[in-house]
Amino acid sequence: MRGPGTVATTAFHVANLCSQTLFDTRENRARWRGFLTACGRSIAVVDLRSNRHSMSEKMGSGWLDTPQRYGRISRGFHWCMAAFFGWQFAGAVLFVSIGDKAITRLVGGSHSTMGFVLFVLVLLRGVWGLMNLKRRPAHAGRLGRAAVTGHFLLYALMVVVPSLALLRQYGSGKGFSPFGVELMATRGYKIEWMMVPGDLLHYWLGFLLLGSILGHVTMAFVNRRAKRDDVLERMI
Ligand code: HEM
Ligand code: HEM
Repeated sequence: MRGPGTVATTAFHVANLCSQTLFDTRENRARWRGFLTACGRSIAVVDLRSNRHSMSEKMGSGWLDTPQRYGRISRGFHWCMAAFFGWQFAGAVLFVSIGDKAITRLVGGSHSTMGFVLFVLVLLRGVWGLMNLKRRPAHAGRLGRAAVTGHFLLYALMVVVPSLALLRQYGSGKGFSPFGVELMATRGYKIEWMMVPGDLLHYWLGFLLLGSILGHVTMAFVNRRAKRDDVLERMI
């Protein structure tokens, strides 16, 4: 029969043997020191990385918006849509200035499809904006409130202008297949009331949106020049 004393003695001998085998020579001790230092360094690197990660989130170089800066996704939406709007309005301006020429067809030929893409993008961007509402850069003071009203106007027009055109397109019965995907089938009859708002307002609200965008861009640069509040920094 083995009593507790025998077990303790055996455990002591095993530990002794292990420590002798593992740490007996100078070489083995050096190996262990190296191993422990490497473990320490890895922990430090992981810690530094996670620290850096949370710092970058705080400074606004991450995916989400922060009070200091718009995140990558909001900036991606903003600049991608700015480029698409540039193309969309280039076509519209060519049409009203030089009329139906080859260059107008080249740029404006994608008007309906590009308009539909912009419509989908603004909905996604709006949802993303609402999800980040509490984290976004604040707009303090009277100028800030004016900026928020301006952004709201931009959003409203970005939704209303293509919506009216899509409603009109449906009412016309001509069908609509952006990128070859049939969203609206062709019909043999029109639905007049669906076409009226688009006929009356799509053109004018479209140009009102262009004017608002030009005002918005001007304000961004005026602010930067006046060095009052460099809002451009948080969108690039
Ligand atoms: C945000 C998206 C859009 C903007 C900013 C926009 C803007 C404009 C502007 C400024 C005009 C007048 C100049 C021109 O005749 O080229 C126009 C005309 C037109 N747009 Fe759009 N558009 C958009 C989306 C759409 C969509 C989605 C459709 C069709 C599904 C469409 C169909 C038309 C048509 C048929 C015209 C010529 C008739 C008219 O003046 O109302 N647009 N658009
Ligand atoms: C060269 C072109 C542009 C420049 C320099 C520019 C600049 C900026 C800047 C600096 C901000 C941040 C403002 C702030 O936080 O107070 C901003 C936000 C915004 N911009 Fe622009 N912008 C441009 C084009 C456009 C276009 C084409 C649109 C489309 C209508 C647009 C719509 C918006 C909206 C709605 C916001 C509010 C933030 C958001 O929800 O994304 N911008 N822009």
